[in-house]
Amino acid sequence: MPNPFTLRVIPPGAPFCNRTSELRELSAHAQNKQNVVLFSPRRYGKTSLVKRLQTSLERAGFFTVYADFFMVTSVNDVAERIAKGVYSVLHQRESLLEKGARYLKTFRTFRPVFKPSANGGISITVEPVSPNLSGKDLLDKVLEELGEFIRRQSAGTHVAFDEFQEITELKKSPVEGLLRKHIQEHQASYFFIGSRRRILLDIFNQRTRPFYQSAIMYPLSPLPHKQLASFLALQFKRGAKKCPTSVAQKISHKVFQYPYYAQLLSYNVYEVSAETVTEGDVEDGFHKLLASERYGYEGIVQGLTGPQIALLRALAVDPGSKILSTEYMARHKLSVGGIQYARKMLEELGLIEKQDDVWRIIDPVFSAWLATY
Ligand SMILES: Nc1ncnc2c1ncn2[C@@H]1O[C@H](COP(=O)(O)OP(=O)(O)OP(=O)(O)O)[C@@H](O)[C@H]1O
Ligand SMILES: [Mg+2]
Repeated sequence: MPNPFTLRVIPPGAPFCNRTSELRELSAHAQNKQNVVLFSPRRYGKTSLVKRLQTSLERAGFFTVYADFFMVTSVNDVAERIAKGVYSVLHQRESLLEKGARYLKTFRTFRPVFKPSANGGISITVEPVSPNLSGKDLLDKVLEELGEFIRRQSAGTHVAFDEFQEITELKKSPVEGLLRKHIQEHQASYFFIGSRRRILLDIFNQRTRPFYQSAIMYPLSPLPHKQLASFLALQFKRGAKKCPTSVAQKISHKVFQYPYYAQLLSYNVYEVSAETVTEGDVEDGFHKLLASERYGYEGIVQGLTGPQIALLRALAVDPGSKILSTEYMARHKLSVGGIQYARKMLEELGLIEKQDDVWRIIDPVFSAWLATY
């Protein structure tokens, strides 16, 4: 029996825990042509959720585009990824391709290149029709074409830009301004998805930025405890093992309802357990989890400065509201020099955040690992 737990993006249709109110609300925003910033720490299930949302919108007749800006390297690259997103849907939806000529006439800046992929499917890349255009011109044109396409669509259009914060890595680029200029004219719903909270909030909430107050901010939470525990127990059952409710609850507690860790811990527990899962298996599974995650954690710590590490370690054992106070610094033997800057940098790196007036480490398992040092 294969292990029923997965560390991957969950494809629409595969077992998925909860997120019913999120799907309902996000679907309403999409139908109302609202733009949304969907954000959460890493590995909370944003991509899985958006893929699901887009599938249900497609069933309702929507045209959906998904573009991922992970490690985007240039303005040209942004334009290509949007064009690729468009062609991927056109390719998947035969009926659209049949009406092809009309659609392909709209998209004139890039031509699609179809190649057989390693997994037996088809992979799509795009290349510019006129090789001499600048990245800025390519992006301008592809957005204009998308607008033209949206205008001709009788049903709605939903566009998802995943890992959107990565556009800020393109220093002094015209991307934000160009996107905003076109998107505000489009009768469509755009979702901007990402995990770097500070960077995303700045894009959408700083007065001087093009996207200022142009979207609904939608934070995604961890999964609800009860539903997560039932989901995990059901998955064990699908894998022909029995997981008592109390043990499933223990898994959920142990990972603070964090979707990725819930899958990873359960995956390990499934591997070490006999037919019925025990609390001891959860402990064993958690040790395995730390043994595999520590490489990532060590990598994070290695990239930090002394004051940043000192502050992180303090927060791991003592989250607090006044972490720059003399008292907090004395308690954790932090030196004044560099602490303010360390806090700013740790926040920008997406490692700490202030919630309900308390500064804490965002990843609870990383925090537990740090606390053992
Ligand atoms: N609703 C859910 N039910 C069960 N598991 C989930 C759910 N949502 C996400 N997961 C699990 O969480 C992990 C992260 O999912 P996903 O990649 O969709 O998150 P993400 O927020 O897009 O991550 P990243 O920040 O890395 O882009 C995966 O292991 C996935 O299986
Ligand atoms: Mg993702």
